[in-house]
Amino acid sequence: MSVSLKTLSDRAEAHEEELSRKLDDLVIVKSVLYQSGDIDPAEERERPSRESTKGKTYLMEPDPRLRPMPEAPTLIDFFRHRFGPSQHLVQSANLALKNGLDEKVVLACLLHDIAVFGLIRADHGYWGAQLIEPYVDEEISWAVRAHQALRFYPDESVGYEYPEVYLRMFGADYAPDPYIDRDYQEARKHKWYMTARLITLNDLYSFDPNTEIDIQQFEDIIGRHFKQPKEGLGMDNSPASHMWRTIIAPTKFL
Ligand SMILES: [Fe+2]
Ligand SMILES: [Fe+2]
Repeated sequence: MSVSLKTLSDRAEAHEEELSRKLDDLVIVKSVLYQSGDIDPAEERERPSRESTKGKTYLMEPDPRLRPMPEAPTLIDFFRHRFGPSQHLVQSANLALKNGLDEKVVLACLLHDIAVFGLIRADHGYWGAQLIEPYVDEEISWAVRAHQALRFYPDESVGYEYPEVYLRMFGADYAPDPYIDRDYQEARKHKWYMTARLITLNDLYSFDPNTEIDIQQFEDIIGRHFKQPKEGLGMDNSPASHMWRTIIAPTKFL
């Protein structure tokens, strides 16, 4: 036992060493978007000096600091290796399941904030919808897009109130931008309005930290309603493939 433990720690150490050696040989820069706000993107920035990059190559391969991805990654691989801890998503989907909702709605709940956890927060409903659009029923991506606006507007007929947590987070004076208001008005009249509304109804703003639900529990529903490309997400040739590839390799120089 102690021998294998030692071997394990040896291996971990060797891995660390190899990693730092790799990093020494690489120039890794951050995209403008990563830094905007922390820095003013319009300001001239200091570039890495010739001296500091001598003998190094700019990263064009998988980032050695990130977990390796399989050659043909599935949605679940992204949940496991690229998304932030996403109990919010699995618990929202679980609630939808408990509420006896259609599997399509369950998948919409599972994916509704996928952009927040894997790509970008701003306008997350729009980004998330675009990411999944080639792989799901149109109703699902439509609902993911529309939830972005709907969550700011109450609907008494189904018992949806303006989230109290938003009062704290955004202040009592916050009013959605005109484009959100426009998209809400549009969605209100749409035939799939209720699908998007159900996302907001099952969107858990606070959740039980003691219940840990594994994404694997949704494997069957994903299998039935998410058209997983056989080449893997990002390796196929859909209008969203590049977005998945960027999530796989967000620090590639070009
Ligand atoms: Fe959301
Ligand atoms: Fe959410």
